[in-house]
Amino acid sequence: MTVAAIIPAAGRGLRLGGGLPKAFRPLGGVPLFVHAVRALRASQYVESVIVVTLPDRLAEVGSLLGPAATVVCGGESRHASVAAGLAVLPPPVDVVLIHDAARPLVPPGVVDAVVEAVLAGASAAVPVLPVVDTLKTVDGAGRVVRTIPRDTIRAVQTPQGFRRSVLVRAHAEADPAAPATDDAALVEALGIPVMTVPGSPTAIKITYSVDLLLAEALLHADLAAEPAE
Ligand code: CTP
Ligand code: MG
Repeated sequence: MTVAAIIPAAGRGLRLGGGLPKAFRPLGGVPLFVHAVRALRASQYVESVIVVTLPDRLAEVGSLLGPAATVVCGGESRHASVAAGLAVLPPPVDVVLIHDAARPLVPPGVVDAVVEAVLAGASAAVPVLPVVDTLKTVDGAGRVVRTIPRDTIRAVQTPQGFRRSVLVRAHAEADPAAPATDDAALVEALGIPVMTVPGSPTAIKITYSVDLLLAEALLHADLAAEPAE
């Protein structure tokens, strides 16, 4: 089996702000997308990496990464960016990982666990964590409607792993009117089972400034190297 990773890194990072697209914001002096490429390449299984970036950053990303990755232009949505990566997958690839540049500190053990689930026969596999906060449904006025039992709820991380044929079909048949925030949702929509594997508390998603501060602390403490739970 040949495994490739696609790293969507073509977002604007509007929630993070800071005047630089999120994937280019430094963490320990290194852009987030470079951390993400290193994290994926650290897996024993990943043979090639495709980075999807903003059109005006193509040359810069290409020269920063050199032969470590193929670099292509993204689209207006995350979905379009992932599709751009899928379009340039080399023919022999049969397992595809999709990993957000916004998760720079995913440990190699999580990447390996996702790949191993697909190699073991799953059509799709995603890393998950239990949810620590209590979850409540609220109405339009902010009143609590009910409390959601959280024992069957999981927070989903990346990389998400797929048998190539399954992901290509899920993308082709995606409903443009109902944009999904992850790729596994497209597979679920086809009625194909998605397997879960343990994620890691260090694989945080950088969305707001506080997340970047936390990631700097994790990098400094070298906690990012801890194995998955
Ligand atoms: N992404 C992408 N192409 C887009 C939008 C998002 O490749 N058109 C990527 C982002 O670069 C990121 C991942 O998808 O690595 C997850 O998206 P998100 O965290 O929402 O990042 P941004 O869209 O950049 O941030 P924001 O939504 O705050 O603008
Ligand atoms: Mg976004």
